[in-house]
Amino acid sequence: MTVLPTALDTESPEYAARRAALLEKLAALDAEHAKALAGGGEKYVARHRGRGKLLARERVELLVDPDTPFLELSPLAAWGSEYPVGASMVTGIGVVEGVECLITANDPTVRGGATNPWGLRKALRANDIALANRLPVVTMVESGGADLPSQKEIFIPGGQVFRDLTRLSAAGVPTVAVVLGNSTAGGAYIPGMSDHVIMVKERSKVFLGGPPLVKMATGEESDDESLGGAEMHARTSGLADHFAVDELDAIRQARRVVARLNHRKAHRDPDPAFVEPPKYDPEELLGIVPEDLRTPFDPREVIARIVDGSDFDEFKPLYGTSLTTGWATLHGYPVGILANAQGVLFGEESQKAAQFVQLANQRDIPLLFLHNTTGYMVGKEYEQGGIIKHGAMMINAVSNSKVPHLSVLMGASYGAGHYGMCGRAYDPRFLFAWPSAKSAVMGPQQLAGVLSIVMRQSAAAKGQPYDEEGDKALRALVEQQIEAESLPMFLSGRLYDDGVIDPRDTRTVLGICLSAIHTAPFEGVRGGFGVFRM
Ligand code: COA
Repeated sequence: MTVLPTALDTESPEYAARRAALLEKLAALDAEHAKALAGGGEKYVARHRGRGKLLARERVELLVDPDTPFLELSPLAAWGSEYPVGASMVTGIGVVEGVECLITANDPTVRGGATNPWGLRKALRANDIALANRLPVVTMVESGGADLPSQKEIFIPGGQVFRDLTRLSAAGVPTVAVVLGNSTAGGAYIPGMSDHVIMVKERSKVFLGGPPLVKMATGEESDDESLGGAEMHARTSGLADHFAVDELDAIRQARRVVARLNHRKAHRDPDPAFVEPPKYDPEELLGIVPEDLRTPFDPREVIARIVDGSDFDEFKPLYGTSLTTGWATLHGYPVGILANAQGVLFGEESQKAAQFVQLANQRDIPLLFLHNTTGYMVGKEYEQGGIIKHGAMMINAVSNSKVPHLSVLMGASYGAGHYGMCGRAYDPRFLFAWPSAKSAVMGPQQLAGVLSIVMRQSAAAKGQPYDEEGDKALRALVEQQIEAESLPMFLSGRLYDDGVIDPRDTRTVLGICLSAIHTAPFEGVRGGFGVFRM
């Protein structure tokens, strides 16, 4: 055993300051999560309940096995936009009859559960996760369809929701639709494209066009029940496979459907009896990342608090020391970890990373990227030393690696360092951020400074005097803007991560993700990388 030692002094003022700063950020995060939980607000929640209906999260809670966790994804979707936080839908991973499923539920208290542009992205992201990890999809439908005022943003790309459902089915990933209310127009294709459909007596409304539209189109008089009620679909059209007498019955039947899917995981789960918790208290994860991200911290302190038994076998510890690489298990699953130690990535770090990624692929071991990087080193010495080709080597390895990747943004994730460390565009199976994280093309001061130099040069080239006062004001403004745009809530709102998590939950969240990942078969790439520029 190679148990990591710790140098974290929990009595020190630095620790206390770091912890206090993170707790403050967590309180702000909780306030935003509370907005998602509140859905459409008191009035609409009361009206919904008054109709004898359950809220979206209550439906999810009844669907999953008792006392099992639900890992909610993208809860901050739409943050900072004109749409309510959460984007009128709930998505996440939960266990139903012992089967890990990707569960989605419309929130009918938010504008009738209509899908807005961010809700669409959230739904598509959930489908990606289901397909990559072969998780059965259970969709709890009650939606006013497209959010009509923003239809131009959703109508055309929104077709992908239905395409995804049938492609999941074609890939052998089961899909179950539980229709608890309105599912009209395009929404009718959710049950239409699903493998299994459950509808609720006098609640489900599934038709391409409601009574007013039918009257307009053909002059025919009709009503909701005869056009698209559960009785009609269960007895006449055959669109409903299961007829439920009420919501609870529908959820019970959904659990029975999942129980009969015969959906088996590709990998055996590790026996929890043999999984050791970390030797150090995860509570201490709050006191590691400095508020000023320019101050480095040792990522081994983080690793020691998330991996089994704090046991970590470091690879090349004496070479490229600004990147820590090594092997561990997390909830019994083997992982290769790449963690930034000093912020900057140099040529040695990049080559070490490329080699490490190759090794993980040879051994079929998933990779965990722990971000705290300001990017690749710039300057004459480094350019001449080939920093571009070394960085390219790392990015090539990460891009073409076929083992599943997980990313956690702990601190900085700037520039091409974000790419090399498997940022969003590099398709990690899951990506989470801590409230202490920041991500952007570069730091706010650097960006404002670069912009100022460019403008100064441009003025000089035109022979114009440079407005120094204006420059100062502009720099301050740009700094402020870039800072705001690099914060986790902003990025999470845009679906650039799968959620902002409490650092203390990192091990649990990664454990759920690793378990989900092991539902699908995977194999590392053997030699199938692009040309490594040496
Ligand atoms: N786009 C934008 N806003 C919508 C919407 C949609 N598709 N559906 C409902 N809303 C809004 C309503 O305008 C209302 O806003 P308000 O409270 O500020 O006035 C709010 O959401 C709640 O709607 P309401 O009709 O009061 O709720 P309900 O629970 O009684 O009925 C629906 C919900 C979905 C059955 C009903 O609103 C409806 O039929 N909507 C239109 C459905 C449709 O034809 N969609 C197009 C399909 S592509």
